[in-house]
Amino acid sequence: MLHIQNVSFEFGGNYLFRDIDWFIKPRERIGLIGKNGAGKSTLLKLIMGKYDVREGSINKSGGINLGYLSQDMISEDGNQTIIEHAKQAFKRALFIQSELESLYALMETDPSEENIQKMADYQEEFDALDGYNIDNKTAEILEGLGFKTVDLNRPMKEFSGGWRMRVVLAKMLLEEPDIMLMDEPTNHLDLPSIEWLEGYLSNYPGSVVIVSHDREFLNKMINKTAELSNNKLYLWDGNYDFYLKAKVERDDLISRQAANQNQYIKEQEKFINRFKAKASKAKAVQSRIKMVDKIERIVEIDEDKSNLKIDFKVSKPSGKVVMDLNDIHQGFDSQTLFDGVNREIVRGDKIALIGANGTGKSTFLSIIANEIDFNGQRKEGHQVISSFYAQHQLESLHLDYEILEELQYDAPHKTEMELRNMLGCFLFGGDDVFKKIKVLSGGEKARVSLAKTLVSDANFLLLDEPTNHLDIDSIEIIIEALKRYEGTLIFVSHNRYFIEKLANKVWWIEEQDVKEYPGDYTEYLYKIHQSQKPIDSNISKRKTQKSNENKTSKDSWKQKDEKEDKLKKLQKKLDQKEEQLANTQNHLQNLEEKLNTIETTNQDEYANLSNEYSNTLTLVNQLTQESEKLMEEIIALE
Ligand SMILES: Nc1ncnc2c1ncn2[C@@H]1O[C@H](COP(=O)(O)OP(=O)(O)OP(=O)(O)O)[C@@H](O)[C@H]1O
Ligand SMILES: [Mg+2]
Repeated sequence: MLHIQNVSFEFGGNYLFRDIDWFIKPRERIGLIGKNGAGKSTLLKLIMGKYDVREGSINKSGGINLGYLSQDMISEDGNQTIIEHAKQAFKRALFIQSELESLYALMETDPSEENIQKMADYQEEFDALDGYNIDNKTAEILEGLGFKTVDLNRPMKEFSGGWRMRVVLAKMLLEEPDIMLMDEPTNHLDLPSIEWLEGYLSNYPGSVVIVSHDREFLNKMINKTAELSNNKLYLWDGNYDFYLKAKVERDDLISRQAANQNQYIKEQEKFINRFKAKASKAKAVQSRIKMVDKIERIVEIDEDKSNLKIDFKVSKPSGKVVMDLNDIHQGFDSQTLFDGVNREIVRGDKIALIGANGTGKSTFLSIIANEIDFNGQRKEGHQVISSFYAQHQLESLHLDYEILEELQYDAPHKTEMELRNMLGCFLFGGDDVFKKIKVLSGGEKARVSLAKTLVSDANFLLLDEPTNHLDIDSIEIIIEALKRYEGTLIFVSHNRYFIEKLANKVWWIEEQDVKEYPGDYTEYLYKIHQSQKPIDSNISKRKTQKSNENKTSKDSWKQKDEKEDKLKKLQKKLDQKEEQLANTQNHLQNLEEKLNTIETTNQDEYANLSNEYSNTLTLVNQLTQESEKLMEEIIALE
């Protein structure tokens, strides 16, 4: 359906990927994964034609429609209402609708045969397109994504970037494209909407490519994994957990093969060195040299192991009670969000604040942060230094600043050295700190924002969706760092894994109150079965076959003729061996190529190939030794 062939792409000479091949088939559910900055968004933009394909090609087979949800926030200040915007998905039906309206008007003055026929045709097409149901369908999807019925007729511009994103998502779903490309769709959704989307997509007849760093979501949604790493695209026949397991196995196999190959090359080189002085053996030696040159070296996959090195430092501890909230009331327009909330936060709390969409999670955090007006008492404890990572923190970055400037803006009292050290922990080393915010990937922007939050050494962190855009390794590191954090923490997250690992308390917003749930998150909401035990990597070291160097040569041929005869025979044998060796060597090379480029890690296929590889390698080693023996015999005779 969609064929990406040999595509390479670079920004200013830095290659994001080289020679990637990918065939997207109908009805696939693919997770496109990779570290922040690996080039996932760029690859989707290439497919969508937002960047020119300069090296390689991307072919779309006859008339397939692509749908695309961008990772970047959309600025939309039109007056169009939410439902009007989403409805644009039904272009043709809307066109017919307006044509029909004009025709009705026209018929009053000109009820010609032609107009009647036109109307009938349009009417028929409109029915076929289920035109009368457009509004219902649109509303259904928008409500699934969390909009209230009363919101549907409000203009887009009244909503935050995250909510506008949902409208764009709704429109894309309604268009029902053959392939949906979604760049981190869950960043803008809350748990109920994510679940709704999971349900919706599971019955979707088209293909879906999802970029996501949410392992729960990935595991549920996908049956294929495409990994961008080391400038290459690797494809796996399973969901994220499968990928994790299969990758360990693959890396293991590859490193064993690479070791075998090295051993083999060493043997060959030994042979070459040993006999290269013998002019008469030049042919055999030359063919060996050629063989070694031809071998395609197995490259071990060198993971990019660079990771965040974050420590959430506390400059001085706060008092025991961090925050005392009494009789908090808050609401907008006619809607009451909180109606007399009493809660206390004590030092060391790690609170997950959860609740359905629109119940006021972010609002509650803003009250704690003292960033909005409310009624009631908010008493901050002794020596509390707080830092607030707001939900759309990324939107407040200055696009034209360089990374270092962005940090200086928040921490003018810190030296450049201090800030650069800090940025180093967030993986911005060297000249990276002079990169402009606007060219950064989603995850890179999130890292800058997090660095900004932490620059104050606060002892009380308020984090609203801190894992948005971050890759899975980074999330893991933040979890560990926050676990070690000696301060107090309250956070909102839709990442189930993050909540499960971190929270020691769950606050649940319901009925305009913030309730504390007695059990833990897992018990309460989701039964998450995560068995991430790495598989047993029991590397069976190949026994290296030492060539037998102590061959005795028996000088027992007295007669010259006999000797000549014997030499001829040996020479012939040697030629045959060498030929056989060359053939086997070719076969080995083919197998290597296959193993290096095998499209999927279909476990059986991989195991078969790798077995055959091992056997062939053994044969090559055996032939090498035999031919060496012959060689020595010949030399001894001469
Ligand atoms: N116009 C540009 N000029 C220079 N570098 C760029 C430009 N656009 C993107 N980059 C860089 O290319 C890299 C890949 O960016 P991309 O947005 O594709 O990453 P990603 O895999 O989607 O990451 P994330 O998971 O963080 O969203 C990043 O390091 C980014 O800074
Ligand atoms: Mg991206």
